[in-house]
Amino acid sequence: MIHIAEPSLGPEELKNVVQAVQSGWISSQGEFIPQFERKFARYCGVQHGVATSNGTTALHLALEALGIGKGDEVIVPALTFIATANAVTYCGAEPVLVDSHPSYWCLDPDLIEASITKRTRAIIPVHLYGHPCDMEAISAIAARHRLYVIEDAAEAHGAGLRGRKVGSFGHVNCFSFYGNPIIPTGEGGMCLTGDQDLAQRMRILRDHGASPGRRYWHDVVGYNYRMTNLQAAVGCAQVDRLDGLIRQRRLVSGWYDAALRHVAESGVIRLPPRMPWAESVCWLYSILIEDTFGINRDNIIGELAGQGIETRPFFYPLHVMPPHFRDPSGFPVAAELSRKGLSLPSGANITEEAAARIAGCLTALRRQRN
Ligand SMILES: Cc1ncc(COP(=O)(O)O)c(C=O)c1O
Repeated sequence: MIHIAEPSLGPEELKNVVQAVQSGWISSQGEFIPQFERKFARYCGVQHGVATSNGTTALHLALEALGIGKGDEVIVPALTFIATANAVTYCGAEPVLVDSHPSYWCLDPDLIEASITKRTRAIIPVHLYGHPCDMEAISAIAARHRLYVIEDAAEAHGAGLRGRKVGSFGHVNCFSFYGNPIIPTGEGGMCLTGDQDLAQRMRILRDHGASPGRRYWHDVVGYNYRMTNLQAAVGCAQVDRLDGLIRQRRLVSGWYDAALRHVAESGVIRLPPRMPWAESVCWLYSILIEDTFGINRDNIIGELAGQGIETRPFFYPLHVMPPHFRDPSGFPVAAELSRKGLSLPSGANITEEAAARIAGCLTALRRQRN
């Protein structure tokens, strides 16, 4: 089976984990945690990193630290992994959905202002499948309306806009290090911020609200959202290799582009977006299968699986699922992307031959249907 996004774990990750085990520090104390926070924050050009147990807890921690709660509204894209909106719900606030941009699939800045009310407190742009949002436009809107920005960069480690890394634009920015993003730690997450007070508040909330100066004293209700030293040990080695892992993603993406160009020119598929201002990291090579040719995306998933190729449909848009149900005819772009979207294997193990074989299967499917 060619899997969708296999991680690349090598001798450095192993060495660090062995060192963590030998040190006896396997829970949430130990040298690798502050080291990982420093390394990753520095990589993104941000001052403070607060490692968490996963990307969802990072989002929740960011919202809580910014004081978002009951009665507040937070703008999120209609097309994202459900954790983005769930974290808003955990705070007692309401996620307000905004449709995707048709050209690059992330939150459409032109639709944001119409959704802002007196209760809006924040915007959470999501860099979907590795392609950045238009952070300059979103930051300008947020500044005009005095809103917080929390980037959800769970899928876009190392992506950038005009040389500036994602994760450095918002007030707090969140990453996931689950098993298959560009750099995984098994489970894990991180909040980045340039604001020292916010970083301190997140550290306190991450550790049951424990007072930093008084043992077993808790000023607020916090959480156990801590990362373990074992996860951070993997993370430290992964950050050192991040540029190389991104180069590999882009190489894979170039192989697919070349092999699928003809199918794209015939209008059967659309290749992944690449806006001129964006430096995508191509976390997943994600395409759209046009349904006008009688080719069904879900059948393609089944046929490729039969040939040992794991693919993934896009997320369901939030507004069709019970926890965040809205007007079913709303958010037409997100609905169309969700219906047509397919991600191909993009992990560190994909060779040029594998990309050609996968692209060949898609080309053959087109011929069968024509
Ligand atoms: C856009 C987005 N946000 C948040 C998350 C949540 O991250 P985690 O699974 O680490 O909680 C994910 C990934 O799963 C994601 O893709």
